[in-house]
Amino acid sequence: MNAILSLVISSGVVGGLVAMAFAGVWLAHLEWLFGVVIPYVAVIVFFVGTIYKVVQWGKLPVPFRIPSTCAQQKSLPWIKYGYAEKLDNPVNNAGVIGRMILEVLCFRSLFRNTRMEYGGGGGIRYKPAKWLWLAAIVFHYCFLVIILRHLRFFTDPMPFFVPIIEKVDGFFQFYLPVVYQSGLLLGAALTFLLLRRLLDPKVRYISLPADYFPLFLILAIAKTGILMRYVFKADVGSIKELTMGLVTLQPTIPEGISVLFYIHIFLVSVLVMYFPFSKLMHMGGVFLSPTRNLANNSRIVRHINPWNPDIKYHTYEEYEDDFRDHMVDVGLPVEKEPPPKPPEEEAAAEE
Ligand code: HEM
Repeated sequence: MNAILSLVISSGVVGGLVAMAFAGVWLAHLEWLFGVVIPYVAVIVFFVGTIYKVVQWGKLPVPFRIPSTCAQQKSLPWIKYGYAEKLDNPVNNAGVIGRMILEVLCFRSLFRNTRMEYGGGGGIRYKPAKWLWLAAIVFHYCFLVIILRHLRFFTDPMPFFVPIIEKVDGFFQFYLPVVYQSGLLLGAALTFLLLRRLLDPKVRYISLPADYFPLFLILAIAKTGILMRYVFKADVGSIKELTMGLVTLQPTIPEGISVLFYIHIFLVSVLVMYFPFSKLMHMGGVFLSPTRNLANNSRIVRHINPWNPDIKYHTYEEYEDDFRDHMVDVGLPVEKEPPPKPPEEEAAAEE
């Protein structure tokens, strides 16, 4: 699909969602719908959708090990199999867990990403490409920090680590209220990821609305949050009353909550509902990925496909038992000679 069309569709949908929440609360006073009903529906859709997806993936047959790795497989004792190989081509569960931890916490495979370039003399060369990794890791960790900080709205008393994260995140203290770096860095990383899609012709060619939509949606969530904190000053006390009502299943809509908050929470609800059915599900999928979660022990353990059908074989021995006499009659060689016939039968056959 054309890049302009993809951009127009995805940004148009996000703009439409913002307009929908604005009109719904500002004009139609549907605070209950946007502040209570939709968030509850979103949480239900998220859990049902995620469980459905994981069960679907779990049912897929993975009868064989898929050793798509870069490192040497464990082999003969004199072939090197050191720590790097143990992690990259693990032979047991400990290695698989190590590989998974590095993948999930450090995005290791993205770190090893390379880009191909045409070098001088018509050849090609591969260069390291770390910018994507950097933007991805900044984006994901900032997102995590923001989610953890937001726990203050949903818990009472809040977990001990929330004030610590707030202190570290607001370390520079260059504005009032204190500016959290995670919000700004999240916006910067998202902008990089968006520009990369737009400016790199190869990435632009393969990008679809499904690639742009989450970026625009999360950018809109961050922007409405930043506006609420630094520009239009949300009534955090009333918002906490609303969110604690949601958590304790005693929903209430207090006075004094701005329309911006309803837009923010509506966009978050859409993201949460969209999550299980989108590429964002790579969060759960990485744990079920056979190239990440299987040890490469094919030469040590015999793997029998558990989905093999129960086939009744007709072996060659049985075949020969069935047809031996006919085979001997027409002169075909047999593995087991037939028992000698009684002399009278032999004589009758000769007559
Ligand atoms: C995907 C989830 C979410 C993201 C990425 C997100 C993002 C943000 C960001 C970047 C800010 C700016 C200030 C900061 O850095 O903390 C913010 C503020 C805010 N968010 Fe969210 N948010 C999310 C979910 C929610 C939810 C579920 C609520 C419901 C209570 C919420 C309520 C608020 C409020 C009230 C503020 C203003 C905070 C203040 O004035 O200190 N957010 N959000």
